[in-house]
Amino acid sequence: LAKIILMFIIAYLLGSIPSGVWIGTKFYGKDIRQFGSGNSGTTNTFRVLGKTAGIFVLLADVLKGTLAASLPLLFDLPINPMVVGLGAVLGHTYPIFAQFKGGKAVATSAGALLAYNPPFFIYCVGVFIILLFLTRMVSLSSMIALPIIVLSSLFIGDWILTLIASILALFILYRHRDNIKRIRNGTENKVPFGLGYKK
Ligand code: G3P
Repeated sequence: LAKIILMFIIAYLLGSIPSGVWIGTKFYGKDIRQFGSGNSGTTNTFRVLGKTAGIFVLLADVLKGTLAASLPLLFDLPINPMVVGLGAVLGHTYPIFAQFKGGKAVATSAGALLAYNPPFFIYCVGVFIILLFLTRMVSLSSMIALPIIVLSSLFIGDWILTLIASILALFILYRHRDNIKRIRNGTENKVPFGLGYKK
């Protein structure tokens, strides 16, 4: 039991590494939570700090999930990697190293999925990219992808994944409440590419 608790603590601490906040304050002198959407995630980093920072934050936040979900292997414990991934997702959204004000759980959840089922991860990224091209909104694409991913997990017959993906889907929706308001009143930010984009 001690090993299991330790593993979840490590997962939470890994998830808590606030890459967006740290990169922003150390290299750009900006806490991204005070700009743009106020979120500490990849999308807002691209928006506020630009491509280089955005790519770093995306990689770091995905990696946190991947590493956390790899812990059962490392600890030689028979626990589903996605379950441990939840610890990192919790850290990412409520980081102990950044006043518990973190991201919206998308990148770190994806990272856990990458460790758990790489082909399914690639499929999900594909779904997301198509949606992003069509809607030009990261938030909306993430949210539409959720039910598609849950249903797809049913198709591949992985009921534990279905269960965890459903929990994550509800949590991610909850974290996007401000985005939902903005989408409804037509003020949500759009990416500078995709269907109908004009320079
Ligand atoms: O993953 C977060 C994304 O879906 C929305 O981010 O900054 O537009 O609220 P943001």
